[in-house]
Amino acid sequence: MTAAHPSAAPKTVRVDLGDRSYDILIGPGLIATAAGEIAGRLKGRRMAVITDAHVAPLYLEPLMASLKATGIEAVSLVLPAGEKTKSFEHLIPVCEAILGARIERNDAVIALGGGVIGDLTGFAAGIVRRGSRFIQIPTSLLAQVDSSVGGKTGINSPHGKNLIGVFHQPDLVLADTDVLDTLSPREFRAGYAEVAKYGLIDKPDFFAWLENNWQAVFAGGDARIEAIAVSCQAKADVVAADERENGRRALLNLGHTFGHALEAATKYDGTRLVHGEGVAIGMVLAHQFSARMNLASPDDATRVEAHLKTVGLPTRMDDVPGDLPPAEKLMDAIAQDKKVKGGKLTFILTRGIGQSFVADDVPANEVLRFLEEKHPK
Ligand SMILES: NC(=O)c1ccc[n+]([C@@H]2O[C@H](COP(=O)([O-])OP(=O)(O)OC[C@H]3O[C@@H](n4cnc5c(N)ncnc54)[C@H](O)[C@@H]3O)[C@@H](O)[C@H]2O)c1
Ligand SMILES: [Zn+2]
Repeated sequence: MTAAHPSAAPKTVRVDLGDRSYDILIGPGLIATAAGEIAGRLKGRRMAVITDAHVAPLYLEPLMASLKATGIEAVSLVLPAGEKTKSFEHLIPVCEAILGARIERNDAVIALGGGVIGDLTGFAAGIVRRGSRFIQIPTSLLAQVDSSVGGKTGINSPHGKNLIGVFHQPDLVLADTDVLDTLSPREFRAGYAEVAKYGLIDKPDFFAWLENNWQAVFAGGDARIEAIAVSCQAKADVVAADERENGRRALLNLGHTFGHALEAATKYDGTRLVHGEGVAIGMVLAHQFSARMNLASPDDATRVEAHLKTVGLPTRMDDVPGDLPPAEKLMDAIAQDKKVKGGKLTFILTRGIGQSFVADDVPANEVLRFLEEKHPK
């Protein structure tokens, strides 16, 4: 079989979870060689591939052809693209497709798409027959560096994002870095916010590297592979140390408390705000709030904002098109996202670039005052 880049061996990041450990392969041309990687690791020869209407015309056929050529019998289901697909309505056909394909013990469910398809398909794989094997072929940058790794799966509820789901680790993750060339620049930037996040959590050198190399990461090639591999390794380390988010894993939520509130405030309308954009604004707010609490220098918040702005990400609440609800309403969304105990919130704050920490005693009224300042209405 000829791969697009026969000479480039993929990078491998191992997620160390005992007998549930798995590999993340990162490199060019992996969709064309996916079946070989799968067949080498899994005994089953039946698969159900779940994808969306944007990804299907681009990558479904090559994947199905590769599976067929390897003797794997596969069915596929194409769902509408977009966050609204992460719902009960679409969970049902996914479960039925998996059952209809007679997926058994050693067979697998394959998610081919961005985080929406990965989260929904992973949830279905987690509940069908009380847990089916699951392979992630993430096609967005966000999915490659974040959502495909770590086993969090689920759907949204009118009460909030990701409130219904299970932990279900994949058996293999194949991140084909070439497919990112067809991602819209906006979606690429949104995924980049999560890449930058790993630097801001605890890798100041990586953040500095991104400040100098972001253009090469956007362009593709080795710098892109490197950024994705560092990100996956960072997430793999956190997940291996704290799979169920009892402690350290919460650091991955840097920027997400504010970000989720903004996503809720825009009713998950992707034309106004996509997840990674909310995270970008949220990370700037987390650094500014940390400075306000005298934990970090305001210069760090300025530096974070400057970099995210340079790559073209929104960094302020005012950057979100259309009206946002007043600060108290955003606070309600935050209270829904995080448990409030005695007027105190758990938040990811920072002492500087790459020095984030879990603060579990953040006064809710301070957050409200801060939001009122940043978003006077
Ligand atoms: N499970 C987790 O740990 C975790 C972590 C972070 C985010 N998430 C979730 O991930 C979701 C966001 O993921 P996303 O940003 O990938 O969104 P997405 O799946 O909606 O993909 C973004 C858009 O890009 C399109 N697309 C994907 N790959 C493409 C490609 N190669 N070429 C052209 N178009 C392509 C999709 O069809 C969609 O329109 C959110 O629901 C978020 O909650 C989950
Ligand atoms: Zn995220």
